[in-house]
Amino acid sequence: LDDAGAAAFFITYQTGWFGLHRRARLAAGETLLVHAAAGGVGSGAVQLGKAAGARVIGVAGGPEKTAVARELGADVVVDRHREDFVAVVKEVTGGRGADVVYDPVGGDAFRKSTKCIAFEGRILVVGFASGDIPSAALNHALVKNYSIVGLHWGLYQQRDPGAIADCHAELTRLAAAGTIRPLISERLTLADVPDGLRRLAAGATIGRVVFLP
Ligand SMILES: NC(=O)c1ccc[n+]([C@@H]2O[C@H](COP(=O)([O-])OP(=O)(O)OC[C@H]3O[C@@H](n4cnc5c(N)ncnc54)[C@H](OP(=O)(O)O)[C@@H]3O)[C@@H](O)[C@H]2O)c1
Repeated sequence: LDDAGAAAFFITYQTGWFGLHRRARLAAGETLLVHAAAGGVGSGAVQLGKAAGARVIGVAGGPEKTAVARELGADVVVDRHREDFVAVVKEVTGGRGADVVYDPVGGDAFRKSTKCIAFEGRILVVGFASGDIPSAALNHALVKNYSIVGLHWGLYQQRDPGAIADCHAELTRLAAAGTIRPLISERLTLADVPDGLRRLAAGATIGRVVFLP
């Protein structure tokens, strides 16, 4: 990896790996639904889901981002501006739903995910890029037998640093094999950083945006 690739690598894939493997126990053959599939952590989750042998459904906003999600390896791609991902997930899983949902968006992405989560499915709470922190209906989790699983990757630095090192070794192996590769759409100078941050907050960026001094 060059400097930009290395900068975009660590948190993106550590978050994906700890979420999908340690917290959600994603298994080969399961269906993984990834929100913001062309975004920073979402793009990494698509690649890691495929590397784990899952069938990946990616949700993204607009034609440019859906094309990116497809290039990343998503088996099924949903344009959230044009389609209802709940209907698509139900259709492509024969009504069963997604086994694991990777959700960096929150709001409606979370609320609607509870409508298409499988029996014994796991919804990973990764972030709230929509700005909307949803509340969970626990009676719904009970009657449908699904789990809502929090993920704060940073805590592992204090609680289990050895696991971070082990994960890094595995991720480095996957990167060397070309199985995962950071998606970098922009390399910014310092002067461009404020605008880059504004566009990231507005959901207008693709993959990782990297500042190169
Ligand atoms: N839990 C952890 O340990 C951990 C670690 C790293 C990051 N995170 C969190 O993960 C989230 C994603 O971070 P990121 O850097 O990878 O960002 P990002 O995914 O590159 O950007 C957010 C994406 O969310 C989607 N989105 C949907 N509704 C949106 C709205 N109303 N406003 C803005 N975006 C919207 C957009 O994609 P579409 O238009 O394609 O839907 C947008 O590109 C952040 O909340 C971050 O704090 C958590």
